[in-house]
Amino acid sequence: MDQRVEKIITSIQDPILQGLLREYFESNEAARIFVEQAGRKGWPVIIDHITFRCMDVEERAKEFLQNGFEYCAEHIEYSDQGWWAKVYRKPGFPSIFIDQAYTDERGKKSLLPHWVSVFGDNVLHHIAIIVQDIEEAIKVMEEAGVEFSGDMWVPGGQGSGRFFPPLRFERERPIRCWS
Ligand SMILES: [Fe+2]
Repeated sequence: MDQRVEKIITSIQDPILQGLLREYFESNEAARIFVEQAGRKGWPVIIDHITFRCMDVEERAKEFLQNGFEYCAEHIEYSDQGWWAKVYRKPGFPSIFIDQAYTDERGKKSLLPHWVSVFGDNVLHHIAIIVQDIEEAIKVMEEAGVEFSGDMWVPGGQGSGRFFPPLRFERERPIRCWS
């Protein structure tokens, strides 16, 4: 593993998270390219949050709750997309988002259970990195050969078209093994 990546992983003093991040960086070339390009540009690599997908948020959250993470009533609903999430936090660590599809009719339109059946619930779905200038970060990544799979998401809507730092971008775990 690249020394810069190793340094990022070991800066997070939690053996479970270190293992998950190591697996993520090993299997995600885009993430490794970001670290390389950040090094070249002198950007810090700050992980804002990491995300799991699972079939049962409460069950999946247990190991993190036992490990000092807390649920602070941050519950996000994406009913139009068929899924919801809870956020777990611990000072000095990236936040943990845990997602699941609704178990009722609303969940039928979610692709999330299929994703979990392919990858399981013990790998990271994505990590979110905070960057100072998201457009610049995307440009640098694209120049380094990374293709982004979706449109840029801007918190609070498009507004004036200016972006307020720090923003973050996310790169989904490659999903080429779906079919
Ligand atoms: Fe995210």
